[in-house]
Amino acid sequence: MKRRVLISVSLLAMGMFLLGTATVAMAGHEIVGAPKCKMCHKKDKTGNQWGKWLESKHAKAYETLGTDEAKKIATDKGLGDPQKEAACLKCHTTTGALGADVVVAAAGKYEITEGVGCEACHGAGSAYKKKKIMKDPEAAKAAGLVMNKSAEFCTKCHNDESPTFKSFDFEKQWAEIAHAVPE
Ligand code: HEC
Ligand code: HEC
Ligand code: HEC
Ligand code: HEC
Repeated sequence: MKRRVLISVSLLAMGMFLLGTATVAMAGHEIVGAPKCKMCHKKDKTGNQWGKWLESKHAKAYETLGTDEAKKIATDKGLGDPQKEAACLKCHTTTGALGADVVVAAAGKYEITEGVGCEACHGAGSAYKKKKIMKDPEAAKAAGLVMNKSAEFCTKCHNDESPTFKSFDFEKQWAEIAHAVPE
């Protein structure tokens, strides 16, 4: 009797495990890396989002964690190498921002060095990056594209949990990273 209960409990656990993996696989929203967005978003005619991002601090966010300033902040907090600490990576990298449930596509071009990449704000791109889907805002949204221009969205990272935080002015700071498609 005891044994049967044990077996069914482990079968249940296994089922839940399989269901868990299936859900993630089915959702199919995997991180492909900013260089995958580059090929279609680097033309001046359509706004060169790639170039604007590359010049922004977001593209340097991982590099920043390698500076002496970052190391000092980490040491003062009793932490190790900031480029390896989850407490820093959570706001300074795409994978950190999207959380452990979102996987990196095996066939993608994701490198942690991209810092806060396109997908940190627009969601994992494996399902929406096809041209046909991208051109249709509704289809892109259904495939996981996030379009969230709001102070609430930015302050997920721009808040006083950031060790160097001073203030955040949405209008002013949005203007610094704006990357619109020209009319
Ligand atoms: C195969 C080409 C292609 C790739 C790859 C691609 N895009 Fe796009 N994307 C487009 C096109 C075309 C549009 C429509 C607007 C335009 O003409 O630039 C668009 C539009 C968008 C929009 C605006 C959607 C809207 O609702 O207005 C966002 C945001 C976006 N792309 C982000 C990304 C991100 C992030 C990636 C990488 C994960 C990516 N794109 C990869 C072609 C592409
Ligand atoms: C995933 C976390 C994250 C999100 C979301 C985010 N940022 Fe940032 N942002 C950062 C980090 C980290 C830096 C600092 C990078 C560095 O200096 O290396 C930064 C820097 C900046 C800077 C450069 C000036 C400064 O304060 O150092 C601007 C401007 C900016 N962000 C605007 C925005 C806006 C506007 C939004 C919302 C649309 C936004 N950010 C959303 C993490 C984020
Ligand atoms: C809650 C999100 C968040 C966390 C967690 C975080 N940062 Fe940042 N970090 C930011 C943002 C946003 C900025 C840009 C402006 C600011 O300081 O708020 C930034 C900027 C920086 C800068 C550049 C400051 C400057 O003056 O240009 C350094 C260095 C830095 N962070 C180190 C770290 C280290 C080290 C950790 C881990 C102990 C860490 N950050 C954790 C969000 C975060
Ligand atoms: C810090 C967050 C952040 C990052 C990083 C970021 N974007 Fe955006 N992006 C936004 C927001 C917010 C909007 C405006 C959404 C809206 O209008 O609702 C936007 C708008 C866009 C648009 C539509 C512009 C228009 O006028 O319709 C495109 C295309 C786009 N982003 C592509 C990219 C690409 C490609 C990258 C990386 C090279 C990138 N974005 C990086 C937050 C970000």
